[in-house]
Amino acid sequence: MNVQMAGRVQRSFSRSFRTYHDCACQQARIADRLVHDLRNSGAPQQFTSALEFGCGTGHLTERLRQSFGFGRLTINDLSPEADETAAAFGADFLCGDAETVAWPYQSALIASASMIQWLPDPAAFLRRAANALVPGGWLAVSGFGPEQYRELVQIGSAAKAPGLCRPEDLASAVDGALEVVAVGETRRQMHFSSPRKVLEHLRNTGVNGRAQSVWTKSRFLAFTNEYVRQFGGEAGVPLTYHPIWIIARKPG
Ligand SMILES: C[S@@+](CC[C@H](N)C(=O)[O-])C[C@H]1O[C@@H](n2cnc3c(N)ncnc32)[C@H](O)[C@@H]1O
Repeated sequence: MNVQMAGRVQRSFSRSFRTYHDCACQQARIADRLVHDLRNSGAPQQFTSALEFGCGTGHLTERLRQSFGFGRLTINDLSPEADETAAAFGADFLCGDAETVAWPYQSALIASASMIQWLPDPAAFLRRAANALVPGGWLAVSGFGPEQYRELVQIGSAAKAPGLCRPEDLASAVDGALEVVAVGETRRQMHFSSPRKVLEHLRNTGVNGRAQSVWTKSRFLAFTNEYVRQFGGEAGVPLTYHPIWIIARKPG
């Protein structure tokens, strides 16, 4: 991620840090699913060491802590506010861009939920993660697929994250280095009473890093009218989430 882009994403998530946790119900469900699949894939109950990237307010950190024991747990985020998450869950904090920051150790678990879509090259991150696992180590990572926020994309919003990819892209990124234990995807629609509420939801969940920076009155009206014209229905207006994930293991 270039420095300018990283700065925009960081400021956007920093601004939403206080609202994110309660508004990010989809990300909470994704963290549930990732930990559920990791547990059901035969992962050990105790990891000697673990790294989590893009921890945010700790949806995944909390679930990992509830389900597994850790000798050492380091959690990372671009946003310095996430040091509160580290303090809350008894972890070390590593602040910085997951792509460029030095990773502190070879790890028995590398995990990340709803972060890799912000990376321009999620496959490169997964290859680095595969290299940073100890033999027998586990990878549990989720991102978003090409249908993420498809309504916004169709209307021409710039909110689209740069690293949307398909589950098979996650699997092929680690091919040859890890055994893929599970890959998955799902699609969910949230409904809002108006396009304005969609924008509020995006702001509250920190997804403003690439969205329209200046909303003139006429732009806002055009956006609203087009959203309702194309997608409006009895339930209001939809917003699609398209989570994807992978669980993989390094041969021992
Ligand atoms: C959608 S939130 C997900 C937070 C948490 N993992 C969850 O599941 O709720 C994405 C998080 O990734 C962080 N992030 C985005 N790009 C990043 C990067 N390049 N390196 C580290 N963290 C990043 C953001 O600051 C934000 O806290």
